[in-house]
Amino acid sequence: MNPPAFKLAMVLSMAMMLHTYHATSNNLQLHPLILVPGNGGNQLEARVTSKYKPCSLVCRLYPILKQQGGWFRLWFDPSVLLAPFTQCFAERMMLYYDEELDDYRNAPGVDTRVPHFGSTQSLLCLDPHLKDATTYMAPLVESLEKVGYVNGETLFGAPYDFRYGLAAEGHPSSVGSKFLKDLKDLIEKASARNGGKPVIILSHSLGGMFVLQLLNRNSISWRQKFIKHFVALATPWGGTVTQMITFASGNTLGVPLVDPLLVRGEQRTSESNSWLLPNPKVFGGKQLVTTPNANYSANDIAQFLNDIGFPQGVGPYKSRILPLMEQLTAPGVPVTCIIGSGIKTAETLFYGRGGFDEQPDIDYGDGDGTVNMASLLALESLWAHERNQSLKVIKISEVSHTSILQKDAALVEIVGEISSINSHVISQVV
Ligand SMILES: *[C@@H]1O[C@H](CO)[C@@H](O)[C@H](O)[C@H]1NC(C)=O
Ligand SMILES: *[C@@H]1O[C@H](CO)[C@@H](O)[C@H](O)[C@H]1NC(C)=O
Repeated sequence: MNPPAFKLAMVLSMAMMLHTYHATSNNLQLHPLILVPGNGGNQLEARVTSKYKPCSLVCRLYPILKQQGGWFRLWFDPSVLLAPFTQCFAERMMLYYDEELDDYRNAPGVDTRVPHFGSTQSLLCLDPHLKDATTYMAPLVESLEKVGYVNGETLFGAPYDFRYGLAAEGHPSSVGSKFLKDLKDLIEKASARNGGKPVIILSHSLGGMFVLQLLNRNSISWRQKFIKHFVALATPWGGTVTQMITFASGNTLGVPLVDPLLVRGEQRTSESNSWLLPNPKVFGGKQLVTTPNANYSANDIAQFLNDIGFPQGVGPYKSRILPLMEQLTAPGVPVTCIIGSGIKTAETLFYGRGGFDEQPDIDYGDGDGTVNMASLLALESLWAHERNQSLKVIKISEVSHTSILQKDAALVEIVGEISSINSHVISQVV
């Protein structure tokens, strides 16, 4: 080695030592943590091209930025609450299943992107101008910061286009698969940035379904090298009965002014929504929906989609989604499920003569208000005989599907679990 090169190598290695020293001295105990949000849990931006065919004059004009070909926030924007804008929103959010490609894509002329991948920024609230009204993970992130987590150093966010899902093997799902690839890269980078420590993944709702797929689609040696622990909040492992209301009659998610039928068409096309329909493995033959003409269990979802007036959904449901629902394999890395309970949750739906355009009568059971208890607890029974799978379940009463990210009682449990995962290591190392 000639002297200048030697000198350069020495300087580089000293710089690297200093760098690691800094990283570890700041965050001696902490495993890097990656947040994966749920359905609708991060911002989404859109822009339209000349191929965009607006359904009305209002949608042609609104918002102004759009006319300049600029990016605007598609989710969440409060204008969705006003009827003419609800329609513009729905037509831009809509996905289309392309039979030739056997994949989903955006509406013609609508480009979408997910801002701030890697950061917690787009998960804190859904509209930065309405922080309080649209707060999402901000309270959770603040609690994590109090125990020493720092955005961009030890704490990362993995927002994604939550309208898209994944598909069973042999079927393309370009957007969902790209997200899994980006998440994998983020995990490796977060680990590298923190002296090679494996990461803790903390997901909410639908995010947990993606994470389990990510784990099982990578080798066991990769998982053991990079994953310290998977903490899944409020994951609908077996889907929800509520989702059948969404498909049949539309669901405004409690937003009072929106007509559910205005968003129903868009909600039906969301690939991730169909992933959250009740899973036969979990709900079995139990009757979930009753009408004057038929009864439906989780085994009859294809028939149900047809009967509610969405026959286009049947093909992709059978080929892409149903076999994906089978895949709830234990990943062999430690898993903790933290769930809310004691909130009334739709369990059986009764449709009358008015058909599916009218909201149903509902019998309620236990759950977190959105997800049924059987679904929240599904892994306990599915993995009961897995000798090599550590699974812990923490139940918090009177906590709902989203208040699990916000209520003090829940944050104490979540941060307590994260701290205990971090301190295991220290006691092992010391
Ligand atoms: C639906 O199930 C109920 C209760 O099992 C039964 O009484 C009814 O006849 C069924 N309805 C139809 C249309 O099959
Ligand atoms: C069980 O898990 C350990 C550690 O996660 C792994 O090394 C081992 O190969 C697994 N054994 C089986 C039978 O899967």
